Amino acid sequence: MADKMKTIVLGVTGSIAAYKAAELASRFTGEGFRVDVIMTESAQQFIAPLTFRNITGRPVVTTMWDIDSEFSVEHVALAEAADVVLIAPATANIIAKMACGMADDMLSCTVLATKAPVVIAPAMNDNMWSNPFTRENVAKLTKRGFTFVGPARGRLASGKMGLGRLTGLDDIYGITLQALGRKGDLAGKHIVVTAGGTQEPVDPVRCLTNHSSGKMGYAVAEAARNRGAEVTLISAPTALAAPPGLKIIGVKTAEDMLKAVQEAVKKADALVMAAAVADFRPVKASSQKIKRQDLNELTIELEKTPDILAQVKGSFIRVGFAAESHDVVANAKEKVKRKGLDLIVANDITEMDCGFGADTNRVTIIDSKGKVENLPLLPKGEVADKILDKLITLLR
Ligand code: PMT
Repeated sequence: MADKMKTIVLGVTGSIAAYKAAELASRFTGEGFRVDVIMTESAQQFIAPLTFRNITGRPVVTTMWDIDSEFSVEHVALAEAADVVLIAPATANIIAKMACGMADDMLSCTVLATKAPVVIAPAMNDNMWSNPFTRENVAKLTKRGFTFVGPARGRLASGKMGLGRLTGLDDIYGITLQALGRKGDLAGKHIVVTAGGTQEPVDPVRCLTNHSSGKMGYAVAEAARNRGAEVTLISAPTALAAPPGLKIIGVKTAEDMLKAVQEAVKKADALVMAAAVADFRPVKASSQKIKRQDLNELTIELEKTPDILAQVKGSFIRVGFAAESHDVVANAKEKVKRKGLDLIVANDITEMDCGFGADTNRVTIIDSKGKVENLPLLPKGEVADKILDKLITLLR
């Protein structure tokens, strides 16, 4: 799990998007991180330090020269305390200063002195972003290991549309967690995760599918990313936003998923199959829409889809899920054996708040020796971390 006691130093610079940094500070603080905010002088023209002070419950640094501040005595104190430095929004000015190694205010000083990863979320006029000076500065910082997230295209402070808007807060949040986890217990590992329900076409408008929302698989993928893994998420169609910092491959059918998994596992340390793969598909999908008025009844002949977990073998750890409606443990044990798995995560999809669509899940984890561990009802993010805890022992 991401270590909640870690310190995020949030640098806020002078952009109209500065108010959005308050939302980020609130989210990180709510998640239990210690958030220390440094505001540049121009940031204080857009939003008051008091806002951040009340949100984080921590003193806000606004100058290097406040003799009463616990941080100004030792001007690199925050640089040393930081597990990650996030600058959001970052103006062209702070980017230029960092690229030149300048240290003329508390934020640039902290960036120059820190050994923590630095994440930069730019926000500026589109001409400033595309200016060759800024392009060079961004390239220089990227080469030195700084991580950029955004900017996004959209309406800018000038009123025109362009590339320069602070990117979505979900993306900034995800990339910051990824940077925090860079030295996590899955660092250096490549994990392939599948999610969502496959769709098997009946005709151009209809398909056979199931109720999977993708939440469980996405939670595993994000948790693995936050612990330092390189993650490939192979996703059947879902309504979920693409999590940042992952390689995402969209697929529709079981056949597509099989091909994507076969390719991805070539360099994987583990495969986690959380997807609800259709077990059957129409033998032949109609190329034209089947018309209701032409038929009194319709029989669709089905055939088995490929069993991905059973087919994809190699020197990587294989974790399956078992969606069961009865005899959960017995059925899951049988699947571990039949599919030759290292681990299976069984959920009773008839239970309230579990399985399909829910934000929570109650699972039983069973290993290849038949050892059973029952977990209580937990948010899917926490279930994901428990699965990864087990996976790590297998990877060792
Ligand atoms: O997506 P959510 O709404 O969050 O819901 C989560 C979930 C209920 C989908 C998830 O927790 C879950 O149980 N996923 C597996 C669903 C499933 O297909 O179970 P199964 O018992 O039919 O299959 C067993 C395993 O074989 C699964 O890992 C499955 O991915 C895999 N399989 C199944 C069929 C197939 N043709 N190929 C496979 O590899």
